[in-house]
Amino acid sequence: MVLPPKMKLLLFLSSQMAIFILFIHLYSYNFNSQNMKEEPKPTHMHVLVLSSWRSGSSFVGQLFAQHPDVFYLMEPAWHVWMTFTQSTAQRLHMAVRDLIRAVFLCDMSVFDAYMKPGPRKQSSLFQWYTSRALCSPPACNVLPQDETISQSDCKILCHQQPFEVVEKACHSHSHVVLKEVRFFNLQVLYPLLRDPSLNLHIVHLVRDPRAVFRSRERTAQDLMIDSHIVMGQDWQKLKKEDQPYYAMQVICQSQLEIYKAVQSLPKVLRQRYLLMRYEDLARDPLAQTARMYEYVGLKFLPQLQTWVYNITRGKGMGEHAFQTNARNALSVSQAWRWSLPYEKVSRLQKVCGNTMNLLGYHLATSEQEQKNLSLDLLSTWSPYQQIYQEG
Ligand SMILES: *[C@@H]1O[C@H](CO)[C@@H](O)[C@H](O)[C@H]1NC(C)=O
Ligand SMILES: *[C@@H]1O[C@H](CO)[C@@H](O)[C@H](O)[C@H]1NC(C)=O
Repeated sequence: MVLPPKMKLLLFLSSQMAIFILFIHLYSYNFNSQNMKEEPKPTHMHVLVLSSWRSGSSFVGQLFAQHPDVFYLMEPAWHVWMTFTQSTAQRLHMAVRDLIRAVFLCDMSVFDAYMKPGPRKQSSLFQWYTSRALCSPPACNVLPQDETISQSDCKILCHQQPFEVVEKACHSHSHVVLKEVRFFNLQVLYPLLRDPSLNLHIVHLVRDPRAVFRSRERTAQDLMIDSHIVMGQDWQKLKKEDQPYYAMQVICQSQLEIYKAVQSLPKVLRQRYLLMRYEDLARDPLAQTARMYEYVGLKFLPQLQTWVYNITRGKGMGEHAFQTNARNALSVSQAWRWSLPYEKVSRLQKVCGNTMNLLGYHLATSEQEQKNLSLDLLSTWSPYQQIYQEG
């Protein structure tokens, strides 16, 4: 068959077109299938320091915050709670969970819901200057990355940085560590533990409820809004003198439930949980810090070892209200024994006894036992060892 030249040209062009379309198609197919094959792999390590008020979590937070690979935020969910001060911990659970998920993924737009509209700074974040990452490049360029800047200097020198630098700082670190006291069960965190885009590891920090109780008594005014949210609607029905015990009951119960829930997790998920008693950390800060670092895959760099050594001997950390140093912590952790009346101890042990037994805090059965300091009320039994043995 002889085709006119025009027809030949048309045929030629359309065949070229077909090849071109095929190419586009293959290319996009390839592109899509590549995308589909690639699971959203977590590029960061995500660490949640799960604790309660007055339990040394700011100190543990600092142990992480000081590491050059860590982007740290203290209590991001404070913003949620302070937006809904009439609510309850249970009702705010999901909002808190979703907020920390977004923050772990460095999506700071989540704060839009909890901050005033209009331009904001990185200093709009609660206790932002406790994050070394927000006091150093790329968030704030006053000093090179490896030089330390004090929190008070950071507050002055870096508070004008725009809010956008928070995301930038988050992306430029391999580890995102968040400290939260606003979770009251583990179930709410299950979706995050199973989320393929997250690599969540939990450090559950607990402290002797009697020491917590004493410390809460001394900061009751600061904790008032939080305590009302913890107690839910119930606090208004309670006598004022009963409220501290009820708040502790809720807190102890939640720690018990978290600890128990871990035991029933599949083994792979159980390995994402580390129990840390504050007293063990106070007695041997270097060894316990090494344990936490190893668990989340951080190198215990020589300068950090010196830093921990220094602060636990009272050097290097200021007298800021939110800071605790471990050397004081060791004597402070015993202070309840001579400063709390036995009737309070006894009453608290009634509401927190189960939790204390489980975590290895011996009950004082008399005033004599409570005041006798040669009697060690901290069990050497290590709950975390038990978890791994059972697995
Ligand atoms: C530790 O303390 C010593 C002595 O006060 C000081 O020279 C050193 O710079 C401190 N190191 C760190 C990492 O804080
Ligand atoms: C204090 O406890 C120690 C150790 O259990 C015991 O030997 C001692 O008798 C106790 N002292 C008093 C005054 O109860």
